[in-house]
Amino acid sequence: MKILVTGGAGYIGSHTVVSLLENGYEAVVADNLVNSSVKSIERVEKITGRKVKFYKADTLDREAMKHILDTENVDACIHFAGLKAVGESVQKPWEYYENNIQGTLILVDELRKHNVKNFIFSSSATVYGDPEFIPITEQCPKKACTNPYGWTKSMLEQILTDIQKADPEWNVILLRYFNPIGAHKSGLIGEDPNGIPNNLMPYITQVAVGKLKELGVFGNDYDTVDGTGVRDYIHVVDLADGHVKALDKIKEKCGLKIYNLGTGNGVSVLQLVKAFEGSTGQKVPYSIKPRRAGDIATCYASADLAEKELGWKAKYGIKEMCEDSWRWQSMNPNGYED
Ligand code: NAD
Ligand code: UFG
Repeated sequence: MKILVTGGAGYIGSHTVVSLLENGYEAVVADNLVNSSVKSIERVEKITGRKVKFYKADTLDREAMKHILDTENVDACIHFAGLKAVGESVQKPWEYYENNIQGTLILVDELRKHNVKNFIFSSSATVYGDPEFIPITEQCPKKACTNPYGWTKSMLEQILTDIQKADPEWNVILLRYFNPIGAHKSGLIGEDPNGIPNNLMPYITQVAVGKLKELGVFGNDYDTVDGTGVRDYIHVVDLADGHVKALDKIKEKCGLKIYNLGTGNGVSVLQLVKAFEGSTGQKVPYSIKPRRAGDIATCYASADLAEKELGWKAKYGIKEMCEDSWRWQSMNPNGYED
């Protein structure tokens, strides 16, 4: 099977392309490189010894999407392409709605015109808002999002659900990711944020490598084990493998499915810092800062449904996530830049 991977040069996309190639799939990547480098694709080729067909293309560019689908006989699409910076989305809501929603509408329209109706969508635990209950199952109600980025995910879930309902030939899987960290064992691909990282693990690794002075811990007065925020960190390679399992489900003509991709374990900010120091031997100086607007205390998954229906379960623990994040950062202190 040949899979169109939009956003395949990005962090999760590049790891998923590795998993696809290792599982006998062909991958065609479409990415406009707005938040990534084509070097990630070269590294994927190095890891796998396989060729990846790459198109520098924007999902907003209908002609480009049409050209790719006319040229490549793809069987399914895994759609990662999107803007994902929560804070930036508050400053630039129009750009986020246009890029993420309009980009998906154009892509889906061209897919259906080419009779490609198998679709896996990158959603997020952010659609649960401040979750009704913990651990979060897929039955947990969706809630108001705290930022436009989150709304794009929530709205796109609804749009894709309605499209599948109206035309049951579609097989659509909405994957709600928890917090991906880690990197491929080779240290050749990983997360390469622009500027100062917003997310916890890239911030920790940049402190450890000496690019940033200290970590700010956003609040230590939450109702959690040590007062700091609790999240469900998942190794990006496990997350990538979840997409391969989702493709198996698509082959069963599954209709609409929704799965959490998480480990089921909650880890606090300070627990992650300690685990990182313990597994890498690097010190991470930190100080306590005020809470960050929009943050919630606790967010972790019940991963039971994905295990039951996809036969997928996260294999890696926090120690490997820390070791692998650090290997990537220390081998590539400036990410994909020379
Ligand atoms: P990323 O920024 O590394 O990857 C996204 C890729 O999409 C980038 O390579 C970017 O250049 C590309 N892109 C953006 N807009 C595009 C467009 N209009 N046309 C073509 N390419 C475009 O981010 P990631 O962490 O790999 O995330 C992948 C997907 O997973 C995103 O949709 C993101 O919202 C979602 N997600 C990520 C997380 C996370 O914590 N990383 C959590 C939940 C969901
Ligand atoms: N944190 C700090 N200091 C930092 C960065 C983060 O203390 O410098 C804390 C946060 O307050 C939070 C935890 O670390 O308690 C994790 O924060 P991240 O920014 O790494 O992740 P979030 O859970 O806030 O958000 C992530 C993605 C979102 C996605 C969400 C749910 O960034 O896009 O997971 O999947 F929507």
